[in-house]
Amino acid sequence: PGFLGALARLAVSGVPVETGWLFRGRDAVDAGTSPRPKRPGWTVDGHLLRTADGTIPAGALRPAEQISLGSSPAEQPTSEAMVADFLRTSREMIAAQRDVLLGFLGSSEAPTVVVPERPKVALVASDAPKAALGASDAPKATLGRSVLETVVAVIGERTGYPVEMIEPDLDLEADLSVDSIKRAEIAGELAARLGLTGGDVEEFAKARTAAAIADLVGTPQQPEAGTSVLETVVAVIGERTGYPVDMIEPDLDLEADLSVDSIKRAEIAGELTVRLGTGDVEELAKARTAAGIAELLGTSHDEPRPVAAEPEPVVIAPKRYVLTEVELAPAGTPDIAGRRFLVLGSGTFAEDVRGELETHGAEAETAEEVRPGFDGYLFLDPVLPTAFPRYQDALAAHPRWLLSAGPAEGLRGFHRSVAREYPETLTRVVEGADAAGLVAELSTPDREPVVIRRGTTRHGIQPTEQDLGPLATNGAGPAGDGVAEAAAIGLDRESVVLLVGGAKGITARFARTLAATARCRIELLGRTALAAEDEYPQAKDAKELRAALIATDLRNPAEIERAVRRITGEREVRTTLAELEALGSPVRYQSVDILDAEAVHRAVKEIHAEHGRLDGIVYAAGVIEDKLVADKTAESFTRVYSTKADGARTLLEATADLPDEPKFVVLFGSIAAALGNRGQTDYAAANDALETLGRRWPAGRAVTVHWGPWAPAAGGMVTAELMRDYARRGIALIDPEEGALGLLRELAWGRAGTAAVVHTASGW
Ligand SMILES: NC(=O)c1ccc[n+]([C@@H]2O[C@H](COP(=O)([O-])OP(=O)(O)OC[C@H]3O[C@@H](n4cnc5c(N)ncnc54)[C@H](OP(=O)(O)O)[C@@H]3O)[C@@H](O)[C@H]2O)c1
Repeated sequence: PGFLGALARLAVSGVPVETGWLFRGRDAVDAGTSPRPKRPGWTVDGHLLRTADGTIPAGALRPAEQISLGSSPAEQPTSEAMVADFLRTSREMIAAQRDVLLGFLGSSEAPTVVVPERPKVALVASDAPKAALGASDAPKATLGRSVLETVVAVIGERTGYPVEMIEPDLDLEADLSVDSIKRAEIAGELAARLGLTGGDVEEFAKARTAAAIADLVGTPQQPEAGTSVLETVVAVIGERTGYPVDMIEPDLDLEADLSVDSIKRAEIAGELTVRLGTGDVEELAKARTAAGIAELLGTSHDEPRPVAAEPEPVVIAPKRYVLTEVELAPAGTPDIAGRRFLVLGSGTFAEDVRGELETHGAEAETAEEVRPGFDGYLFLDPVLPTAFPRYQDALAAHPRWLLSAGPAEGLRGFHRSVAREYPETLTRVVEGADAAGLVAELSTPDREPVVIRRGTTRHGIQPTEQDLGPLATNGAGPAGDGVAEAAAIGLDRESVVLLVGGAKGITARFARTLAATARCRIELLGRTALAAEDEYPQAKDAKELRAALIATDLRNPAEIERAVRRITGEREVRTTLAELEALGSPVRYQSVDILDAEAVHRAVKEIHAEHGRLDGIVYAAGVIEDKLVADKTAESFTRVYSTKADGARTLLEATADLPDEPKFVVLFGSIAAALGNRGQTDYAAANDALETLGRRWPAGRAVTVHWGPWAPAAGGMVTAELMRDYARRGIALIDPEEGALGLLRELAWGRAGTAAVVHTASGW
């Protein structure tokens, strides 16, 4: 007060006083010049909503009215009419609450609520028969599913409501907010699934309930006579990709030219087996071209098979696991007499290993390169990703043993994944073993892919469930979710958090939680370069973008796909920036490739110099290019591996130069590193490497969080197709809200020494 008083005295005595800098960096607005807040256009008084002039908007809840009981018995309403009134008002109330909730959640499709008219027929008692799924009144079964079930399933997929909530007689518009556009989509999807033709689709879109749609559908037809198998294949590919059928040449490579990945191919294959009532989904999904699929279908003589109902994805809060060592049974004497081994390495250790193998009666050679013809390969000093081609050669021989002497960056995740792809090979990384210990690992009955040896004792690693204590489990205070955690981490509005790969996907979701709970300054890095503005604002989604691009005469599908990816990527970044700002966090995005060391060093230095601090770092850049070892190129392996490992290393070096340590560092890893995954040797190795790098980070807390799959509502690597695939495999997905809060709790209440944890809704 003394200081401000002095300034005031100076000002009134005529000294020009510059006060602007007092407010710099603070959340202050100039009341004199900033626009006056508008008078609210409506009021809410606890349960009712009115516009400024007191009118109740259409569809809003009306105040309770007294029901006149009348004076004569003839005027008394029947109990049925009273129940009907009660149900009508309850229904209005639920509809109003639903709209408030949708509005709060930011649904882009604010539904126009059509309050159903008061039923003309008096409501019947609760024992009245209800149309139930699978009931005998839904006889038009199509390939194992009744038409009504298919209708309900499609509505469920499109609205997100669980199927058991979609009663056949619910009004789609009033009760489920399915507007006419969404109904048209549902109708289109049904037509596709049930093999129906054009004119009908419009009729279905007009129907107001699932039961009415099912009635209209009647018995599904087979594809029109005269339509060739190839035409049907092309039509389905067109529907699933958005390409006009005349652009889908039969010999176009589905993956390379149309970006139809293996999961989408499986969906197309599934759709075709339903429409044509024949074919093997797995076989069809392997075909690379429309012509290839048509050929397989043409030669398929399978009987039509019932199609299993699509399981609903399960989206739940993740559990937390710590990777802990467990003691394993001692190794026995290896039974390797007469077996041939190639020891990959040189020097004394290689000679010792060779000698040890020979002591057990095996034949052994040392070499630098892999040759076929051996029962086992022992890699002595492998360094990923350079060693990948040699591993690939060794695995091509389907050896009985494939051992690596570790520890080395990424080898745990790599071997866990190899074990899943080559179940007949005993594959493992052995850490801390001398020559005798390494050779002893050829004997053991267990198939642990990671073994840590201390003398003759052996340890494996197991994810063990461990919660973070009562504060994390029961909540840490009366403030909103995560606020106490942000404070416990030491984050406030002055703090600066850098998120690499944070403008998109699950990291952007976490950034939103940071903004909502700490309103800290957020610095984002990613590769996407932002154009000044959206080139196709009228095209809402990828399908519409494709159409818009095709309309500009772009005819090359690969180019179109690139453009679609670029534009949707830019949109995602813009949305993140807008949302973080709206939540109160100052935010900046910079396009920086994490593999460009110079640019990364420059960006980190500038961020620190500008704010004088860097409180937290989230490293989440990553790419996936899933393929089995046998099909993967060395370049692809290196790309996937380096984005994580080299990127994290560069960031570590860049931040190590800063004068102060960040409060926390989080590296986004993957459950693939902790459990291994088919097709992800590179990605699993890369995420495992993060653990090693994280341990070197000077920070109050540095932790690698191996995530299980997140629900695609958060964006990110789990696409809608992948989600359906997980649902079929019974793998639950992380609820985005819970996932982000879980990470905040991890940082707030986790032990500083815990270098790696798994947060997942499911194992596999
Ligand atoms: N989603 C999940 O369920 C899940 C599960 C386990 C682990 N994770 C991990 O979580 C992280 C985020 O994944 P996500 O699912 O949200 O995927 P995502 O949306 O694809 O995010 C990946 C991010 O990394 C950035 N990136 C990639 N290469 C980069 C490079 N060279 N330089 C700078 N930035 C780069 C991307 O930016 P650009 O697009 O601009 O290049 C993007 O922002 C990843 O590390 C992933 O491994 C995710």
